[in-house]
Amino acid sequence: MEKILVIGSAGQIGSELVMELRRVYGADNVIATVHYTKPPQEVLESGPFEHFDVMNTHQLYEVVNKYKVNQIYHLAAVLSGSAEKKPLPSWDINMQSLLNVLELCRTVKIDKLFWPSSIAVFGPTTPRDHTPQTCTMEPTSVYGMSKLAGERWVEYYWNKYKVDVRGIRYPGIISYKTEPGGGTTDYAVEIFYEAVKNGKYTCFLGPDTKLPMQFMPDCLKATIDLMEAPAEKVKIRSNYNVGGISFDPKILAAEIKKHIPEFEIEYKPDFRQAIADSWPMSIDDSVARADWGLTDEYDLAKMTEVMIREIRKKFNK
Ligand code: SER
Repeated sequence: MEKILVIGSAGQIGSELVMELRRVYGADNVIATVHYTKPPQEVLESGPFEHFDVMNTHQLYEVVNKYKVNQIYHLAAVLSGSAEKKPLPSWDINMQSLLNVLELCRTVKIDKLFWPSSIAVFGPTTPRDHTPQTCTMEPTSVYGMSKLAGERWVEYYWNKYKVDVRGIRYPGIISYKTEPGGGTTDYAVEIFYEAVKNGKYTCFLGPDTKLPMQFMPDCLKATIDLMEAPAEKVKIRSNYNVGGISFDPKILAAEIKKHIPEFEIEYKPDFRQAIADSWPMSIDDSVARADWGLTDEYDLAKMTEVMIREIRKKFNK
């Protein structure tokens, strides 16, 4: 019987992952966590939840003991844009929370840990097109630095203590349930809300800023598939490249216009432009496909159609 703890259950990915895990493993077997941001009502109402702070190791051990947790998804992190505003506290949260969870996994019997990295681990000296699984990584953002250091730590805990840790270098994630907060790829979600609500959007990245993105259903499937894969198929413990779909704001705007012809976009790049310019434009995820069978279903057209339909429903538009 799996007992799964999801740290970061109020976030864009965590809030949907809790619901999907409850569907797969049974509602009572997936424990959501509440810290300073409240998860959506459906997360609170559909299964167990606990108030706790991952920075507090005592609380962490208590929750794990109480539910006899044997799997953890640790998704809590300060994302790229927010981390640039508070570099040192963000480094502290991203690193210390991971080390707390790794130590817990080492000392208590936790069967599997999922901890995601990001395309932010790459930097200006990385090949930006079809970025390979293994290449030069010199990130320039605090978030990217913390994710790269985290990748080294999770691999270290696998090599040294056999903590079964698995992870994906998430591209930008696009979804319509919980909005993302503080990321550089967030424009690709905001644009849909503004297009549906107001018919126009001011983009904080320039028109040609191509980045890899993934639609939430594909993200959830990849995450759970990796966690379900037999251990011998998970050959990379420092996080797998996952590419999703790559596009820039002007291509996305053109796709939205097919559904909302009056939609207008203007561009006012801010500090996040420099972050985006240091990240890959597209990702080579052939290693994840070969090792544990990564697949995806959504292309830009299919994703755009669902995003607009669902956000229209949300706002009765
Ligand atoms: N979506 C994240 C961000 O923009 C990247 O992992 O910070």
